[in-house]
Formats: sequence, C-alpha cells, structure tokens
Amino acid sequence: MFTLPRQIYEGETALEEFIGFLEQEGLKKIFIVTDKNLVELGLFDILLNALDGFDTKVFDGVVPEPTLEVVEEGGKKAREFKPDVIIALGGGSVMDAAKGVWIKYENPEFDLETISPFRRIGVGKKSIFVSIPTTSGTGSEVTLGVVYTVEREGRREKIALGSFELISNIVVLDPRFVKDLPKSLTIFTGLDALTHAVEALVATTANDFTDALAIKSIINIFEILPKLVKDLDNIELRRRMHLTAMMAGMAFSNSGLGLAHGLGHALGAALHVHHGRIVSLTLPYVVKYNMSDEAAREKYELIRRLLVLHKLAEDTEFHNQLYSFIKNIGGDVSLNKIVSKDALVKKLSDIVELTIQDPDVIYNPVTPDVEAIEQLVMKMYEGEL
Ligand SMILES: [Fe+2]
Repeated sequence: MFTLPRQIYEGETALEEFIGFLEQEGLKKIFIVTDKNLVELGLFDILLNALDGFDTKVFDGVVPEPTLEVVEEGGKKAREFKPDVIIALGGGSVMDAAKGVWIKYENPEFDLETISPFRRIGVGKKSIFVSIPTTSGTGSEVTLGVVYTVEREGRREKIALGSFELISNIVVLDPRFVKDLPKSLTIFTGLDALTHAVEALVATTANDFTDALAIKSIINIFEILPKLVKDLDNIELRRRMHLTAMMAGMAFSNSGLGLAHGLGHALGAALHVHHGRIVSLTLPYVVKYNMSDEAAREKYELIRRLLVLHKLAEDTEFHNQLYSFIKNIGGDVSLNKIVSKDALVKKLSDIVELTIQDPDVIYNPVTPDVEAIEQLVMKMYEGEL
C-alpha cells in the first residue's frame, strides 16, 4: 500500500493557491498550530497575512519534543474553536503535536498512546489537516509517524507511534517559509533528507514506487545542496530542496528507514547531536556494512553509476561517494570531534542496546548483532570506513 497526501501545493505561489482552495471550498475557520519561535521569526505573519478575512485562531504552545500535555491543551483549544481546517506550521515537533491536536479535536476520547496503524482513529470528519513545513528535511509533512515525550516513573521517555490516518490531507511547500534557514540547519536537514532517501532505497519493504522517489531524491540532493549552501538566498534552489526533502519523506514513509536512523537515534540521545548531523554521519558506514546484502548492493551500484553519469560524484564506491559528499558540504564523518573515546566507550553498551531496540532497524537489509554495532561505532569514532 502507498499513502500520500491528497493535494500538494508547491512553489513560490503555493500559499496563495492553497488559500484559493479554501475559498472555493468555503472553509472559513482555521486553527493554526505552531511554536513561539516561528511567531518571533515572522514566518507566522506570512501565513496570517495570507489568511486575512478568515476566522483564525492560533495555538503557539508547541515545544520541541512535545509532551502529551501540550497536545491535550491544543486539542482543548481546538474543540472550543471548532475549526474546518487545522494547519501545522513548523518543523517535525509542530507537525507531531498538530496531528495529536487533530485527533483530540475530532475524537477527544482517543488515547494518544494507542495510536497504531491497526486501530481506527476516525479523524477527518470535522476538519482537514494541512502541513506547511518550515524546514526542508524531516519529511514529517508526508509521514504517518508522531513522536511524543511522556513521563514514566519520573523519567522522560519518547514514544514513536504512527497511523495512516495521520498523513496530511494537504501539504503546502512554499519556499518563503524556508528562505531564511541558517546555513548549519540547511546542511543538517538536507543531510537528513539524503539519509532518508538512501535508507528508503534499500529498506526491506522498498518497492518500485519508493525506489523512483528515493533515486531522484538522492540525485537532486547531490546536485542542489552544495549549490544551496553557497547561495542561501537563492529561492529557486530553496524551492527544489524543499520539494526533494518531501520526495525523500514520501519514499521512506512508504518503505521504511534502516540502521543509520537506528544508530543515529541512539547516538543522538547519548551525545545530544542534531538528528540530521548524526544520522548522516553514520550513513557511509551503514552503507558499507549493508554491502553484504546482494539486493542492497545492486541498488547502491545503480545510484553510484547514476551519480557518476550526472557528474555529481567521483567514480568510486557508493559509500566513498557519500563520505566525500557529507564531508565536503560541512557535515561530520567521524565522532572524534563530538566525543572523547573514553566517554564513547562508557556509553557504548547503552548505544548498542538502544540501536537494537530501534524500530527503524527492522527495515535494514542486514540485521546487525551487538558485535557489528560496536565495531561500526568504533569505526565512526576513528572516521575510517
Ligand atoms: Fe531522519
């Protein structure tokens, strides 16, 4: 099964086209979920100005790694307002929170901790859900997953859940919302999208549809991201990168991720490093490790040749092409600048345990054991593939 948003507005007039749709459909009451940071950055004003004449209400209480309490609060405000449309304006955390707000508006009795692909939620009867991403990388606008923080026995835990009902009905990809992303975030979110595409390509549930999206995403990122990093104000490059990040999101949301995300989640939690920065660091090592799988090897060879053909990479092995790309663009290729060897060794058993338990690892073409993960982490420390 493939699931995708029903409508995607893309380009420099995407927002106006979307507003035209709302007018045409007579959808007047708009509930916007966002965070205070975006309000301060002025991105919220772009949306609010465009919605002049609509009945709008804003919930800007989303915090990074949102808790269930935040979602409940947003849901209560939505129930009071009774919107026709819920808009998530922001990055991954805002979209996760907004999906929960949508559930709590439409079905207040639903227990968010029971979100599952096998349980009917019943959203969409009162309102439509719209995502307007303000970063180019997470792919949250097209994915079915949500991550919430819960408190259990005095400990903060993250829970990752998902349902096909939680895929946005409409996505608005307007480059005006990403034009001021700083250089480091442009790099790390772009490398996150690259990791999504490379993992989606060889995931155990990949298919022709996801392959097509993944291959085009990888080629685009190799072409666009280096130009964009040198020319951050280029709105056309921003537009293309925004679209590409969504395509990579469509690929992995329909095929799965893999060990780079499993390791990235574990290392990110242990070392407090940006998600895109750490998953891309692990990627060349994981690709080399996955070479023992014949089907993965064939797909890596295909994309390797395409990158050479498009003059986007040297004629070398795919893991080397990735390593050079990530290094040259300003990503990290070793852990030794991030953590000392002693500190890493102390945390190694926790990192291995978290990696093995990570749900993304299920989709990796090769199933790693404890020893394999330990070896990979130590290679990453040294920076040698
Ligand atoms: Fe990611």
